[in-house]
Amino acid sequence: MSDTGPSHHDDPIVLVGIESTCDETACAVVAGGREVLSSVVASQIDLHARFGGIVPEIASRAHLEAIGPVISQALAEAGIAPADIAAVAVANQPGLIGSLLTGLMAAKTLAWVWRVPLIGVNHIHAHAYSPALAAGPIEYPAVALIASGGHTSLYLCRSPMEMELLGATIDDAAGEAFDKVAAILNLGYPGGPAIERAARSGRADAIKFPRTLLEGQSLDFSFSGIKTAVLYHVNGVPGSVRAKRGAACDGVAKGIEHLDETQIADIAAAFQAAVVDVMRIKIRRAVQAAEADVRTIILGGGVAANAALREAVMQLGGKLEVAVRVPATEYCTDNAAMVAGLGCHYLRAGRIDNLRLAATATVRR
Ligand code: KG4
Ligand code: ZN
Repeated sequence: MSDTGPSHHDDPIVLVGIESTCDETACAVVAGGREVLSSVVASQIDLHARFGGIVPEIASRAHLEAIGPVISQALAEAGIAPADIAAVAVANQPGLIGSLLTGLMAAKTLAWVWRVPLIGVNHIHAHAYSPALAAGPIEYPAVALIASGGHTSLYLCRSPMEMELLGATIDDAAGEAFDKVAAILNLGYPGGPAIERAARSGRADAIKFPRTLLEGQSLDFSFSGIKTAVLYHVNGVPGSVRAKRGAACDGVAKGIEHLDETQIADIAAAFQAAVVDVMRIKIRRAVQAAEADVRTIILGGGVAANAALREAVMQLGGKLEVAVRVPATEYCTDNAAMVAGLGCHYLRAGRIDNLRLAATATVRR
């Protein structure tokens, strides 16, 4: 089955999407579910960089300041009139509650003023739809890995709207692990692109970091172990841990200030290889365990921008004879086009909400 639903030519439904789940304030206008008429993203990275991570209170305030101008810009760039808009879709879960509320209130206001339906969309489900943007429809069933700073989830998707959660991280998200390891290696924030850059000149087999696969055929993820392994490799195993586990101190173990560029590049490459390995193995498990004949592997979320991950998953797709769909870089990270695009399918299916729609910080499904 392909994502037959909305296509611009037979049904030019135009939706406005709003995204404010984390640290990006975004608004987009999408026609027919896949044609992006405009996509405006105001990033807060600069505001949070000096703290080495996202500060929720700062994020909330920045969303408030940005949301009005971002919406105006998206509407202007799309060149559409309110009368052309069929619905407003908003990512109302999961995310930081203060951040979610700003986007939700803006979406409710627009839906009310324009007298159009309001559609709540799960942000992670929207990531799984993102490869369809400005591209051809996705063939289903699909296995989707969504990996970002806030989530690492594996789904079986029967359509853009039917998502079955197969597994998720039990501790850190993959992007969070990239960010934390980049902090250990003094590579700056956000960590993903910095690790990827450093890894290019490193040797992935220089160090063997653990691949945490969890028990049996588990499709859950755990990234806190590898983060700790990197920390111990750099700083040495603390005495208390060594006493308890009898662990040998096998790392470079002098502290980051004693490592040269080559050693840091090796650590980055070996860390990245371990994370990519785990993801490849879990995706393969999910494809092989699915009762349905999986036709597509989807990657989404900020970590999907990682070239080593893309390459590994492309190879896996080749071996399994399954298509691999990865969004354009601008749709890997948080954006509102994916929200509007998925919202179009919801509208067609009549899955609309009302002005009592609530924001939900955490959801596991
Ligand atoms: O989807 P996203 O923009 O925001 C969240 O919802 O979290 O993802 C951001 C995350 C950050 O943790 C960042 O370090 C990671 O995605 N990331 C990457 C790369 N680019 C961004 N991780 C690995 N390799 C990259 N090239
Ligand atoms: Zn995201």
